Amino acid sequence: MNETRRQILRSIAEGPRTGPELADQLELSRAGIWKHVESLRGVGFDIESGPDGYELQDVPEYGAETVEFGLEAPYSVQYHETVESTNDVARDLANEGGSEVVVLADEQTGGRGRQNRAWRSPAGGIWLSILLRPSLPPARVPLLTLGAAVAVVRAVDNVGVSATIKWPNDVLVETGTGTEAKLAGILTEMTGESAQVSWVVIGVGLNANVDQDAVGAGATSLRELVGDIDRRSLVQDILETFHDLATNPESIIPAWTDHASTLGRRVKVDTGTETVQGTARRVTDVGALVIETGSDSRTVHAGDCEHLRPLDSG
Ligand code: BTN
Repeated sequence: MNETRRQILRSIAEGPRTGPELADQLELSRAGIWKHVESLRGVGFDIESGPDGYELQDVPEYGAETVEFGLEAPYSVQYHETVESTNDVARDLANEGGSEVVVLADEQTGGRGRQNRAWRSPAGGIWLSILLRPSLPPARVPLLTLGAAVAVVRAVDNVGVSATIKWPNDVLVETGTGTEAKLAGILTEMTGESAQVSWVVIGVGLNANVDQDAVGAGATSLRELVGDIDRRSLVQDILETFHDLATNPESIIPAWTDHASTLGRRVKVDTGTETVQGTARRVTDVGALVIETGSDSRTVHAGDCEHLRPLDSG
């Protein structure tokens, strides 16, 4: 966007400004201001012209300008049309010393999921990575991942989608056929010493305004469930809730437990080195899953969790 249009938007986002006021401020003719306002309207800005002048009422659904003028987040937000992976961009920012930054993209060309899987990220989704430098030891970082899952569940509830969390952080929706489809996932990456992390990147992938076909089998999207939603307000909701939880880590486990669908279920967890099967009972204060395996009880810190049918011997 050219600088003049950006300045007009900044002005009329603060309150109404008349054509002559803007013309004076930007050293342009009134006709010039009018032309810029018309162009902004043409790309989706809702600019009202009333007796007190032009006023910005609404911004386009998504994009750099929307983020700049319409997204009030507790972090600074950097928008990209397309990137390979927002986690990679956030990691680069971390290496440059950044913090409290969110990288947001419309599309990822090399989105990454857990266990080195590819994560389909067509245009229309919500693909974001939150870069933080929390005062936490690495062992407590999974809490932030659980907090991100809670933030997603609460945000989608506001658009009419009832979702639950499968341990540790898959956001699922029950489909009509009684199976569960994945709506969102979280990939957390970090570096640090044993006592203190240096940085953490929490990558959130939410299948928002994308077709079912584009996200693949076993997954679903908000478009499929409730139609297209306003990604700007959804992102804002996610970030606000996440921020509240991350600044109050003690609240995360109770919140996660409220939204979890794993506890009390029969599960099979593949930790990468072994498979643990039994009934999921609770999560520990760092988010590890406690599984009752007959007479024994096992605690798993990471892995792929499968919900089994009650009588499924797996
Ligand atoms: C999972 O496998 O469930 C985790 C998926 C995480 C995907 C998100 S999309 C934004 C961020 N960038 C990535 O490349 N991955 C995460």
